Amino acid sequence: MKDVRNIIDKLYENHYLSGDELIYLLDNAMNIHVQNYLYAKARETRKKYYGNRVYMRGLVEFTNHCKNNCVYCGIRALNKNVQRYRLSVESIISTCKIGYNLGYRTFVLQGGEDRYYDDEMIVDIVRQLKKQFPDCAITLSIGERTYDAYKKYYEAGADRYLLRHETASRSLYEFLHPNLSFENRIECLWDLKEIGYQVGAGFMVGLPKQTNKNYTEDLLFLKNLNPHMVGIGPFIPHKDTPLANEKGGTLEMTLVLLSIVRLLLPEVLLPATTALGTIDISGREMGLKAGANVVMPNLTPIEVRDKYELYNGKICTGEEAAECRKCIEDRIISAGFTVDMSRGDNVLWNRGDIK
Ligand code: 5AD
Ligand code: FES
Repeated sequence: MKDVRNIIDKLYENHYLSGDELIYLLDNAMNIHVQNYLYAKARETRKKYYGNRVYMRGLVEFTNHCKNNCVYCGIRALNKNVQRYRLSVESIISTCKIGYNLGYRTFVLQGGEDRYYDDEMIVDIVRQLKKQFPDCAITLSIGERTYDAYKKYYEAGADRYLLRHETASRSLYEFLHPNLSFENRIECLWDLKEIGYQVGAGFMVGLPKQTNKNYTEDLLFLKNLNPHMVGIGPFIPHKDTPLANEKGGTLEMTLVLLSIVRLLLPEVLLPATTALGTIDISGREMGLKAGANVVMPNLTPIEVRDKYELYNGKICTGEEAAECRKCIEDRIISAGFTVDMSRGDNVLWNRGDIK
């Protein structure tokens, strides 16, 4: 116990641990006392940079078409049980307008890898949103595209890009993503950073075959990439995927990894994810208490919401945008935090600052 505490103290002070120290910490972290110590340090760190504020992002899931076949994902191309939908440009804008009127100043446009939305169309959407809501940040989360495409979207006004690396272990990555290249994924993240985006990477917890050594690779990769945002959530099986019968990730392991990421990257924007709220009714609140400082309530029109089913049991599929906004606000306050509706940029970022 004393050794683990020393390691946590070291991480808290230096924001760094070696691979061996990280493994040791993970191997000894399934203990309530260790966890409470870790969460307290993570909370303290997040408080130093962001106070008690929790940033709100309005999530618009605008297409569930996808050309890929990630073996964990409910909207993979081969899943014929999905009713596919695409929102029109007008509908994306009117969805953001509803969000704007509810107070949101960040919109996250997320979708499957759907080439129906070509570069011109994405640029058009970003331009229109920036024109109509100049005080808002626009985040894209539409998967792997070319350097030039990423650059065009950035020049059109996109501020942030989310692209989870999913796992930093090449063999695990290749097992999970038939026909995708691990190199390309990683290159996309470096490209996005170079262009100047606030970049979000991240990974899933509790995937089949995933070990503490694999998590260590994720943590060291993140430390090296130094992204502005990190999305971490438990893997949750979806019945129509090859991983239907696998076990999902646990609450404890996800919270432990959230808190370690907070300590490794003290200024990072760290969401308490919907997947975390799905495996435990208080998952997101516990995430906030373990160092997370962002939530992403759903703005997707209610008619299509339940069709964006990456995993079974996903929460918030029946609630209108306003209900989600209210629900999450109550949760944030009851957990002892305050809601912040501003753009909520990473404290280290300025547009045009990184080249
Ligand atoms: N369980 C949990 N998270 C999932 N994602 C996709 N499928 C699942 C699943 N079955 C995550 C991936 C992706 C993000 C949008 O959702 O990490 O990057
Ligand atoms: Fe969506 Fe609670 S946050 S219903």
